[in-house]
Amino acid sequence: MAVAAFIRFPVGAGKGQRADLIRIKLRPAAAPYAARMSGDTSPFEAIGGAPAVRALAQRFYALVDADPAYAELRALHGADLAPIAESLAGFLTGWLGGPRDWFASSRGCIFSLHGGFAIGDAAAAQWTEAMARTIRDQPGVEPDLAGAMIERLGKMAQAMVNARAPASAAA
Ligand code: HEM
Repeated sequence: MAVAAFIRFPVGAGKGQRADLIRIKLRPAAAPYAARMSGDTSPFEAIGGAPAVRALAQRFYALVDADPAYAELRALHGADLAPIAESLAGFLTGWLGGPRDWFASSRGCIFSLHGGFAIGDAAAAQWTEAMARTIRDQPGVEPDLAGAMIERLGKMAQAMVNARAPASAAA
C-alpha cells in the first residue's frame, strides 16, 4: 500500500517566498521515513540535506559539460564551472527550504543575475532537461518530490528567457 507524506514546498525565490504543503507518495522502501516527513519537513531535508544538494548541483554542471545535447547552454558559461556549481548549490539549499545563506549574501535576485546573458528558448529547454535528468538520477529523491522540483524549476527557467526570436513577419 502506498504511504503518503507531506512536505513544505517553497514557491517563488527571494523575499516573497512562501510554502505550499504538498502530498507526496512514498515508495514502499521509503515507508519507514514517513514519520520523519511530517508537514514540517522541508524538501531540503527530504532529499538528504547539504551533501545531497551539493552533489546534485555538481552533477548538473558535470552533465552540462559532458553532453553535447547541452552545448548551447554550456557555451553561455565560462571555462570553470566549479564556482557556479557551488553557487547553484547555495541557491537550491535556500530555495528548497534549507539555510538561506545564499539569499542573505549580496548576490541579488536570481533573475537579475541572468539578465546579462542572452537566454533563448533552446538554452532554457536544455537547462530544464539537464536538471530533470539530474534530479531523476539523484538517489533517494521520491518521484513525487522530483516531479514537483522539475516542474517548478522548469517554470523558473522559462521565466529567464530574455532573447526570444521574434515571430516571423512573413505572411
Ligand atoms: C534558462 C535557463 C538558464 C540558463 C541559460 C542559465 C545560464 C546561466 C549562466 C550563463 C550563468 C553564469 C555563468 C558564468 O558566469 O560563467 C548562470 C549562473 C547561475 N545560474 Fe543559471 N541559467 C538558467 C537557469 C537557471 C535557474 C532556473 C537557476 C536556479 C534554479 C539558475 C541558477 C544559477 C546560479 C545560482 C548561478 C550562479 C550565479 C552567481 O553566483 O553569480 N540558473 N546561469
